[in-house]
Amino acid sequence: MAIILDGARVAKEIKQQIRKEVADMHAAYYLARPPHLVTILVGNNPASQIYVRNKARDCEECGFTNETVELPEDTTRGKLLNLIVSLNKNQGVDGILCQLPLPEGLDEWAILNAIDPGKDVDCFHPENVGRLTAGRPAFKPCTPAGVMRLLAEYSIPIAGKNCVVIGRSNIVGKPMAQLLTAADGTVTICHSRTENLAAFTRNADILVSAVGRPGLVTADMVKDGAVVVDVAMNRGLDGKLCGDVDFDTVQEKASYITPVPGGVGPMTRAMLMENLFKAAMR
Ligand code: GUN
Repeated sequence: MAIILDGARVAKEIKQQIRKEVADMHAAYYLARPPHLVTILVGNNPASQIYVRNKARDCEECGFTNETVELPEDTTRGKLLNLIVSLNKNQGVDGILCQLPLPEGLDEWAILNAIDPGKDVDCFHPENVGRLTAGRPAFKPCTPAGVMRLLAEYSIPIAGKNCVVIGRSNIVGKPMAQLLTAADGTVTICHSRTENLAAFTRNADILVSAVGRPGLVTADMVKDGAVVVDVAMNRGLDGKLCGDVDFDTVQEKASYITPVPGGVGPMTRAMLMENLFKAAMR
């Protein structure tokens, strides 16, 4: 039976630690005011509304201030770019986060490009993506960084291990592979066009799934004693939240496993708070 990788507990500890550091930095006059995050939410995506609300709560827990700018579904590219330009210039703003996905018709790439790389707490700007690739990150992408921190908290070794990442998105799959490679893992990226996925996953010492398909990873695809990390957040047929991994059967085989919810999700948000603190301390 696998040990549960308790992201909710670890994230809570990280946020408490940040809160203490913010207070110390303020007392030592290194911080004139609390770190300030501005989140931009365009449109009415219900999942995004929940994510943004959770991030605001995290900020409060860390002693940060935050503000959400809500814009209508039909917001133009020009209006959004103007907002970002003014936030870039505003010295009272440390971090800018534009919640994705944007409504259809808004060019995500153009919008993410406009954010000041020094305020890009998501680590989505090409400059920050490039720095990560070169092994000189300013910020670390929140979800992959959260996975790495969770593995570290449980002293799970990565060097020399076979790491298989399912999913090749810019937000998770690709940067996850980079962080695991930087930690000396031997990394394979699988995706929707991979032939015989199970042949790869069965070889994984560390298996990370970030696809968004309930039931994708079944017990027969997992090696005995593997570490299984489920990044996905899906709504199952029963209406309950679930990941990609068939948790009940896979936990019998794995050595460690993340629950959904309460695994990677809270860690992602804790890493966002670390990035915001870092941005404010620049
Ligand atoms: N949508 C889903 N995940 C994320 C994230 O990490 N950052 C932003 N900005 N949008 C998201």
